[in-house]
Amino acid sequence: MRVIIVESAAEVAQVAAERIARAVRERRAAGAAAVLGVATGSSPVGTYNELATMVRDGGLDMTGVRAFALDEYVGLAHEHPESYHAVIHRTVTEPLGLDPALVQVPNGLADDLDAACREYERAIADAGGVDLQLLGIGSNGHIAFNEPTSSLASRTRTKTLAAQTRDDNARFFDSLDRVPMHCLTQGIGTILDAHHLLLVATGESKADAVAAMIEGPLSSMCPASALQLHPRAAVVIDREAAQKLTLTEYYEHIEAHPLPGASAA
Ligand code: GLP
Repeated sequence: MRVIIVESAAEVAQVAAERIARAVRERRAAGAAAVLGVATGSSPVGTYNELATMVRDGGLDMTGVRAFALDEYVGLAHEHPESYHAVIHRTVTEPLGLDPALVQVPNGLADDLDAACREYERAIADAGGVDLQLLGIGSNGHIAFNEPTSSLASRTRTKTLAAQTRDDNARFFDSLDRVPMHCLTQGIGTILDAHHLLLVATGESKADAVAAMIEGPLSSMCPASALQLHPRAAVVIDREAAQKLTLTEYYEHIEAHPLPGASAA
């Protein structure tokens, strides 16, 4: 796992956006449009803003780029401002100028949720898989909505949200009892199929989860520790999120001495 520690949340956003832009340009140079995996939550918002600036300034062409969201609440109308359909539209599709027809979010309103999950897996496969998956991390170590004890081999499915996740996300709703109980989420196995993983985290509240993800044991108790299994996973964090790591000097030493000619993955 590549661990990139920077000084501020703004720098996390810049570094992450640059890596996403590079993935889009590389796919374009190979004659195709990239398939991005996009995350909700507050962590990636700065990254999306940076990408939007690049698109506006003409430095990044997003034509034909597809996007798949990680997850969605069950039972929230797509028009509800906190549904992930609405969040992805507001923070990703519109600012990055993506074609809405090329952006997919799991359908938490489907009559048959299991079928919707299977269709979602099929749609990702039909698109040729995800080139780069952007991720945040929950304070309990979840990725997407894969709560602790989620199978590390899981595929897109329904889940019941952990109490801590509902508490954390209550800030987006009028009250805690408005936070849905259930969700659809890409599985950890689904996420690990992406060609590149890029996780961003900022702030002290993520420090324990970040340390468990990078330096803890591989365990479903910290779903993000599954990134340890991925050959091209990068984590971009600020000093506050990095404060519980024990090998900070080593990570900084690695970044200060890149192997000449080595890929920046
Ligand atoms: C949410 C999302 C995750 C996100 C995480 C952290 O519930 N389902 O994809 O990474 O929790 O959110 P935030 O970035 O707001 O801290």
